[in-house]
Amino acid sequence: MLFDTHAHLNDEKFEEDREAVIARARENGVSYICNIGYNRETIETSLELAHNYDFIYTAIGWHPQDAKTLTDADLEWIEQLARDEEKVVGIGEIGLDYYWDTSPKDVQQEVFRKQIRLAKKLNLPIIIHDRDAHQDLLDILREEKAEEVGGIMHCFSGSPEMAEQCMAMNFYISLGGPVTFKNARKPKEVAERVPLDRLLIETDCPYLTPEPYRGKRNETGYVRFVAEQIAALKNISFEELAEITTKNAKKLFQI
Ligand code: NI
Repeated sequence: MLFDTHAHLNDEKFEEDREAVIARARENGVSYICNIGYNRETIETSLELAHNYDFIYTAIGWHPQDAKTLTDADLEWIEQLARDEEKVVGIGEIGLDYYWDTSPKDVQQEVFRKQIRLAKKLNLPIIIHDRDAHQDLLDILREEKAEEVGGIMHCFSGSPEMAEQCMAMNFYISLGGPVTFKNARKPKEVAERVPLDRLLIETDCPYLTPEPYRGKRNETGYVRFVAEQIAALKNISFEELAEITTKNAKKLFQI
């Protein structure tokens, strides 16, 4: 029983063998998947996946890298889908990305704020993308009172101290492939210190492939390597880790 809380199975890298990848996920014990739509095109294809597979759910939102393209009509469209579609379980991924910096920072921040307000209006959790923007991100979450809906710090890359601040605002800490990397001290420390009832696991496939397949295309079935690593760090069984993280995700997404 595993819950991959962040996948991009609608990505073009799965065009040739998407069905086989999803079948392999099931063989590897994945019971639930939250797939992410982050712009017009991927929201549509993510919904399609959620319609086709009963164990696939979707979050929808506008990625910070595309922030400058978001129109009022897009935002209304997202709101309508979130209201109409049962399989929409969250708003995201949304947040700030100062690494690629493809949209100006002030635009990213405004689009992020608008989507937090939308999630609060819909009473849906938010899925956060944060790259090199820790402080601004925390400030905005606090100012917008995001704790009213909470959500997921997706592929969390901050310190244990930052994780504390996020948990205090009602967020779960989700770890992916990097926790398996040999020299990745921070995510391992985070895995050790975050209490089990605040932890989630994910792949972010096709990106961030865990060991032993680092460097190759990632897929949802590999979430078990993430679970194995965290279970070892926490000194508990794989089964226990799988069960608790699945329970956490189901509670958050209300499924
Ligand atoms: Ni993602």
